[in-house]
Amino acid sequence: MAASGPSPWPANAVLDEAGLRVAGLEAEELAVRFGTPLLVADEAHLRERARAFARLFPHPLYAVKAFTSHHVIRLVLEEGLDLLAATDGEVEACLRAGAPPSRIVLHGNNKSDAELRLAVAEGLRLVNVDNPEELERLDGIAREHGVVQDVLLRVLPEVGAGAHRAIRTGEAGSKFGMPVAEIPTVVARAMELAGVRLVGLHAHIGSQVLEVQPYLEAVDVLLDLLVELRARTGFEADVLDLGGGFGVAYTDETPLALDELAPALLARVRGGAERRGLRVPHTLVEPGRSVVGQAMVTLYRVGVVKVREGVPIVAVDGGMSDNIRPMLYGARYRVAFASRPRTDGPVRVRIVGRHCESGDVLAPDAELPGVPRPGDLLAFAATGAYTYSMASNYNRVGRPAVVGVEGGRARLWLRREDAADLDRLEVARALPRRAAPLEGVEIRPARPADAAGFLAVYREAVAEERYLRAERVVRTVREARRVLRRSVSDDQAFLVAVEAGAVVGWIQIVREPHPVVRHVATFGMAVARERRGRGIGSALLSEALRWARDRGVAKVELSVYPDNRAALALYRRFGFVEEGRLSGHSRKPSGYRDEILMGVWLEEER
Ligand code: LLP
Repeated sequence: MAASGPSPWPANAVLDEAGLRVAGLEAEELAVRFGTPLLVADEAHLRERARAFARLFPHPLYAVKAFTSHHVIRLVLEEGLDLLAATDGEVEACLRAGAPPSRIVLHGNNKSDAELRLAVAEGLRLVNVDNPEELERLDGIAREHGVVQDVLLRVLPEVGAGAHRAIRTGEAGSKFGMPVAEIPTVVARAMELAGVRLVGLHAHIGSQVLEVQPYLEAVDVLLDLLVELRARTGFEADVLDLGGGFGVAYTDETPLALDELAPALLARVRGGAERRGLRVPHTLVEPGRSVVGQAMVTLYRVGVVKVREGVPIVAVDGGMSDNIRPMLYGARYRVAFASRPRTDGPVRVRIVGRHCESGDVLAPDAELPGVPRPGDLLAFAATGAYTYSMASNYNRVGRPAVVGVEGGRARLWLRREDAADLDRLEVARALPRRAAPLEGVEIRPARPADAAGFLAVYREAVAEERYLRAERVVRTVREARRVLRRSVSDDQAFLVAVEAGAVVGWIQIVREPHPVVRHVATFGMAVARERRGRGIGSALLSEALRWARDRGVAKVELSVYPDNRAALALYRRFGFVEEGRLSGHSRKPSGYRDEILMGVWLEEER
């Protein structure tokens, strides 16, 4: 286990001469099964952290920004935590995960009308108001909806704490909240407004805070302010929200001990309020990092290893796209071998990512028992918070998969982002494309006489079991003849490619029958195995799209298996983009198979 100090690794992680195991599972096995980079969550650890907060504090909120996934949101809700959302997007994630609106609080320093409307319309428990202007807008919106919205006011306590300038929020000059001196006027105004009900004050001093003291100072600031507010406005708070920011261990830090923090904070609030003759408010806290941070590790596979100026430079298959924290905050992580450790002697290595920047350094100075070699697996500790949630797609790198492990079982929480996911925002327009005429190949509407030839190509493709949904071709030649009798109409086009008198490919494009989807056509096609790769598919598709355009079809859609690379490439050449994926939509003898949905718009204006 860890060399010194408190361990940053998950509670159910074991590091020994065999490498890393989490909750009984070999990291190497997980890496092979789910690919790398991979975030591995110790689910029991995460659950225990949530439970500890629920046990020690009366009203904890989980700050979902630290790690936002439905699974984690549901898990913390189950354990009794409510949710803190920073944006409408985070509110949506909470709602979609099934959180009752009454368990969601919204904060944010620049809330839009749309965000405030969402909060009011959904009936969120609290809105933490950042500034006087927002208070007025929220009041208007609440009155429009005929409701009274409970609110907190965000106070800038001028108590700063936190591991890095960028994550200290409570200091003078911060963009967050209102200075103490401004609060009485805002409170007086809030008390006049019919659309809001002021229930308390909020302060968040910063993030990755490792001492209790700054929190106690913030409590005193808020309580002194409450004394002044009572005198000047008669306001008494029901709620004091002390924010989050509780620090965790990344390398050798001693994390903020919750069982010391909680009693100290609660006693300061209670004792301080009583001493000042104030009503004792409910204390809220908003942990993010300290719930998820140490519950997860990131696994990376080592690629290239170089030595530069005597320092081994170890390149891994992730980087600034899956963890920007080292570059943004100078964050440091404990690193260990997750596969069998090299033990050729303690070294300091620089672990770099795969992105096209010199700044893409995940660990400038990691201590390891030996120099990693290509193929080794490395683990970074305590990567649960603000890595995945701050991930980007720089260099078109997809976000990693996230897997939860518990009791020797692994469950995928978030699948790896693939090229299709990265394409999903593209708006597809058909590319102007006329396939070059193919020597000796004719593309024409099918005729009844093509029935046997069509069925032969169809049967062959079905028998390959890779391309088409069908498992058997049940249609008889006679039935096929009937279909081919009217091969081109307003509703469909059935085209064949003919070479030396034989059918070598076909395409059937059909308009959707239902009125609301009449503008859409879908198609199926196949090319004889021996004739593939010569442009016959392109020629067929080009003609089919021409038919569609001529008949006023606005959009063409299809479904294709993800491993049918030739078809995917063909469709992309015509401008189709991937619009979705149905997981396990097909059940084939070989098992469940995903289908990729693609589409292309033929109309210029939409
Ligand atoms: N409450 C408020 C109002 C906050 O702004 C935050 C975090 C939290 C609670 C939760 O703080 P936590 O317990 O997770 O420290 N990206 C940075 C951290 C930014 C924190 C933003 N606010 C990082 O990677 O260190």
